[in-house]
Amino acid sequence: MGRATKVVLAYSGGVDTTVCIPYLKEEWGVEEVITLAADLGQGEELKPIQEKALKSGASQSLVEDATERFLTDYAFPAIQANALYENRYPLSTALARPLIAQLLVEAAEKYGADAVAHGCTGKGNDQVRFDVSIAALNPNIKVLVPAREWNMSREETIAYGERFGIPSPVKKSSPYSIDRNILGRSIEAGPLEDPWTEPPEEIYLMTRAIANTPDEPEYVEIGFTKGIPTTLNGNMLSPIDLISQLNEIVGRHGVGRIDLMENRLVGIKSREIYETPALLVLVDAHRDLESLTLTKDVTQYKRGIEQTYSELVYNGLWYSPLKSALDAFIQQTQEQVSGTIRVKLFKGQAKIVGRKSENSLYTPDLATYGAEDKFDHKAAEGFIYVWGLPTRIWSKKLRGEA
Ligand code: ARG
Repeated sequence: MGRATKVVLAYSGGVDTTVCIPYLKEEWGVEEVITLAADLGQGEELKPIQEKALKSGASQSLVEDATERFLTDYAFPAIQANALYENRYPLSTALARPLIAQLLVEAAEKYGADAVAHGCTGKGNDQVRFDVSIAALNPNIKVLVPAREWNMSREETIAYGERFGIPSPVKKSSPYSIDRNILGRSIEAGPLEDPWTEPPEEIYLMTRAIANTPDEPEYVEIGFTKGIPTTLNGNMLSPIDLISQLNEIVGRHGVGRIDLMENRLVGIKSREIYETPALLVLVDAHRDLESLTLTKDVTQYKRGIEQTYSELVYNGLWYSPLKSALDAFIQQTQEQVSGTIRVKLFKGQAKIVGRKSENSLYTPDLATYGAEDKFDHKAAEGFIYVWGLPTRIWSKKLRGEA
């Protein structure tokens, strides 16, 4: 008896996930492997990937176009949450995992598979995100993770694949490990493993080097409806068009690069380079619009919620009771978050230079220092007396006067 009969394998087309196909069948006694490749806008042809899976022994090779779903159900809620792990990483890779888990579970249920599988190793965050998300969606499905057990080096993995007719990578394989989708690219390993080494320019694809950015600033106006980005420069766009166009605009000004020493859930510190042009600017713009449209207490309270939210997403708890509860809070706050943010892009910087909203709580005749001032200055005196009373009492006590 094998570990499972029929398995749906998350498939990227790389050597490791391809080797998983014969490995599952030969070593773990799986009878049938169905591969599933998720199109999340990574800009890669998925047709050859499909053929590769079939040639390597898959009985069926599924390709799911999930880019729109990725944006509306995963990325946009994260923007509403201003989600930045450790205050910097906008979770571009992490957000894709619960969606891929969902696609795996849906396919397993549809095709009557008793297990799903993925190609993650035992060192990263992604294995946690897959395993926990799958368990949350269907706790009766087994999760098989060959790379966590097979103990093969890269050379051995390639050699194993060759035994089953899987060609070794033609071009000298890049030293980097890269994950990409429509939101951005995550790049690690190779020379980047030395935290002192500056990332070489060759690793970037979505953002230009400052030396090659335009010499004139460019302005872009981003419109939000209830916390969701809907327009660019006044044009209503589909989620995919909006993100693609904004990636292009922001990237050509060299904005969106992050070089981060990050704390993984599994206890390891790692160095990752990200380029997430649109997503970074959207979080910044959205946060600014909230400052205009939410009250002081909601704004400040939400900042704490956002940090917890980001940690949950990073740590694989997208489908969890706490995350659902935070979602409800965040959704409630977004009712008023509609308006437009004006961003100036120039030489690696994106600066918010203007904001407006029908729901703005900014009150010019209270804020102004001009003649129209409606603020009751005399009211401040009594307020400060009461506000400062505990401090006054404390000070007198210290001085022996009370
Ligand atoms: N550190 C990021 C995360 O945990 C990205 C992980 C994948 N990175 C990669 N270069 N393959 O979400």
